[in-house]
Amino acid sequence: MPDSRELISTEKQAEDECVEVSLRPNYLHEYIGQEVVKENLSVFIEAARRRGDALDHILLSGPPGLGKTTLAHVIANELGVGIRVTSGPAIERPGDLVAILTNLEDRDVLFIDEIHRLSHVAEEALYPAMEDFSYDWVAGKGPQARTYRLKLPKFTLIAATTRSGLLTSPLRDRFGISFRLEYYSHEELYQVVKRSAKILDIPLDKGGGMEIARRSRGTPRIANRLLRRVRDFAQVRKDGEISKEVAAEALAMLDIDEMGLDRLDRQVLLTIIENYGGGPVGLSTLAASLSEDPGTLEDVYEPYLLQIGFLERTPRGRSVTKKAIEYMGKPLGARNQGRLFEGP
Ligand code: ADE
Repeated sequence: MPDSRELISTEKQAEDECVEVSLRPNYLHEYIGQEVVKENLSVFIEAARRRGDALDHILLSGPPGLGKTTLAHVIANELGVGIRVTSGPAIERPGDLVAILTNLEDRDVLFIDEIHRLSHVAEEALYPAMEDFSYDWVAGKGPQARTYRLKLPKFTLIAATTRSGLLTSPLRDRFGISFRLEYYSHEELYQVVKRSAKILDIPLDKGGGMEIARRSRGTPRIANRLLRRVRDFAQVRKDGEISKEVAAEALAMLDIDEMGLDRLDRQVLLTIIENYGGGPVGLSTLAASLSEDPGTLEDVYEPYLLQIGFLERTPRGRSVTKKAIEYMGKPLGARNQGRLFEGP
C-alpha cells in the first residue's frame, strides 16, 4: 500500500511541482517565517548591492521542504541577478561544473541543491572557483604537462543540503554565510496556506487553514500539497469551501493523523515499539524492517519525529519516547477508513 507521500500519481506530482513554483514568493517580504535568516540576509544583500559586489557564498541546510530552493530564488531576485540551478548528483565531472560557471554573468547566483552528493573531483574543482573565481586545468601529461588558469565570473554559490554533517570541512569552510532552516510554527504555516489559497483562488476559512497547518509537519511544501488535496475533496464531495470539518475529513481519508503523521511515520514508530521493544535499534536494521532506504529514513522521516520528541537518537541506535508510545496507544479516530487517491 502506498504511503501518503506516494498517494498521488506521477502526473499529479508533476502538476504539483508546477503549482509549487507558481506559489513561490519572489521577494523577502513575501517569504513567511525563518525570521532570523531573513533579518540577516536582508543586511548582507543590501551591503552587497551597495558595494556592487557579489554576495558571499551561502550554505542552506535543513530538512526537505522548508524552502531552501525558494530562498535561493528570492536572494537572486533581491540582488537583481540571474540564477542557474543544478544539483550535486548532476555534476559528474569538473568539466560539467566549468561549463556552468563560464556561462554565468558577473554576480549571478549558482544554486547547487544536494551539495552533499557532489563527487569528490567536482568538489576539488569547486574550491578555487569559490575562492579565487578561477579554474585550473592541466593539459598534457608528464614533462609536457602545462597548467592553465581560467578566469571565471565573480559569482555567488548558494548550496543546499539536508545533510550538513556529510560535508567535508574544506567545503563547509568556504561558505562565508551559513543558515539552518527550522521547522515552521502552526501560525506561520497557516499564513503560507492562506497565501497559497488566495493565489489559487481556493475558498478557505481560518479553521480550515489551521487544520491543514497543524497537520503539515512544520513544512510549507507539505502544507501546500495538503491544501491542493483538500481542495479536490472539497470540490468533489462538498461545496468547494474548506472549513475545519471538511479539512479534517479530507485529511483523515488521506490517512494523515492529528499530528500530521502519515502511515510511514507511524510505521516507523510501531516497528520500533513492536519489533525492537521501543529501541534502541540501528538505522540500517530499522530501514531493512521497513523496506525503506536508510538515507530517506534519516533525511525525510526522522527529523520531524525527533523535533516533536517522538524519537531519540542514541549512540546505540534509535529509540521511541514515552510520549510516542502514549500517542501510538491512543484510538486513531477516522484514519484508515478510506482513501482519496491511489497511486498509478
Ligand atoms: N511557499 C513555500 N514556502 C513559503 C514561505 N516560506 N513563504 C511564503 N510562501 C511559501
